[in-house]
Amino acid sequence: MREDCLILGIETSCDETAASVVRNGREVLSNVIFSQIDLHTRYGGVVPEIASRKHIEKINQVIEQALEEAGVSLEELSAVAVTYGPGLVGALLVGVSEAKAISFAAGLPLVGVHHISGHISANYIEHPELAPPFVCLVASGGHSHLVLVRDYGVYEILGRTRDDAAGEAFDKVARAIGLGYPGGPKIDRLAREGDPDAIPFPRAKVGENAYDFSFSGLKSAVLNYLNACRMKGGEVNTADVAASFQKAVVDVLVEHSLRAVEEYGLDTFAIAGGVASNSSLREAFERECGRRGITFYRPSPILCTDNAAMIGAAGYYEFVKGAVSGYDLNAVPGLAL
Ligand code: KG4
Ligand code: ZN
Repeated sequence: MREDCLILGIETSCDETAASVVRNGREVLSNVIFSQIDLHTRYGGVVPEIASRKHIEKINQVIEQALEEAGVSLEELSAVAVTYGPGLVGALLVGVSEAKAISFAAGLPLVGVHHISGHISANYIEHPELAPPFVCLVASGGHSHLVLVRDYGVYEILGRTRDDAAGEAFDKVARAIGLGYPGGPKIDRLAREGDPDAIPFPRAKVGENAYDFSFSGLKSAVLNYLNACRMKGGEVNTADVAASFQKAVVDVLVEHSLRAVEEYGLDTFAIAGGVASNSSLREAFERECGRRGITFYRPSPILCTDNAAMIGAAGYYEFVKGAVSGYDLNAVPGLAL
C-alpha cells in the first residue's frame, strides 16, 4: 500500500490566518481558521497593515492547533504547502516566511500554491469522484474567473472580470444600502425577503470575449437607482434592491458558465470562492445543471471562503507532480494562474 501523504497547508493571503492538515489531497484532518473580519469591519474593508500584523500574531498558534487537532507531528508530515499569491503582499509574506522556516527546520519539502488553484481544489475534498476535466467558476472578493481545469493544477482561463470581481460588487452594493462589510452574506440574507424581479437591473454586455464578466455597470445602475429614489424622496425597498441585484449577478454567472461547459463539450461543472456560498447562486446552478444534464459540484460554505484545507489539497497535486519550491519562493501579489 502506498504511504499516506500528509500536507500542512498555510493560507494568509487576505484576512484569514489558516492552517490545515490534509491526507492524500482529499481528506481533511484539521482545518483551523482565525478570521480577522471583526477587526476590519469598522473600516468597511480589509486594512492591509492590520491584516499583516494580526497574521504574525496568530500564525504559530493556528499551525500548532492544526497539527494538534490532526494528531500529526511535524516529523510525520510529507510537505508544507503555502499560498504565495495573489493577495496582499504583507499578508502573503507572513505565510511564506513561516512555511519556509518550518520547511527548513523540519527538513520538509516546500510547495508554493496559487490561491485560485486552492479555491478550485476545495472541490476535491468533499467529492472523491470529481476529476478533471471540468469547468470551474471562481467568484470571490478579488477574483471572478471562469476556468477550464484540464488536469490537476493545469488551468486555462476562459473568461475573467473586466472590472469589479463579483464579491466586490456584492460588498459595494451592500455598503450603498447600508448593510456593512462583508456584504455578500448580508445581501444573500436580505434578498430572501425581496422580489428578484422588482427592479430590472442590466445584465452585463460582453465584448469580444464572450466569457468575460463585467459588474461595474450593474453596480452603477444600483447606485443610480438609489440616488433617483432618494431625490424623489421615496422609500427604498432594500430587500427588493438586494434581490434584484443578486439575480442580475447570478443570471450572468450561470449563463456564461454553463455555455462554456457545453461549448467545450464537457458534462461537469464546479463553483469555488466566497461568492460560491451564495444560496441563490447555488440553487440556480443546481436547477440549470439538472435541466442540462451537467453534474454540479460545490464545496460546503466553510470551504468556499478562504481556508488552508484547499491549499493542502492543491499542494498535494503539485507535490506528487514534483513541483517543489526553493527557498527563494517569494510572495507574488499579482500572481497569474
Ligand atoms: O474567497 P473569499 O473568502 O476571499 C477572497 O479570496 O476574496 O471571498 C470573499 C468574498 C467577499 O466579497 C464576500 O462578500 C463574498 O465573498 N461572499 C458572498 C457570500 N459569502 C461571501 N457573496 C455573496 N453571497 C454570499 N453568501
Ligand atoms: Zn480567496
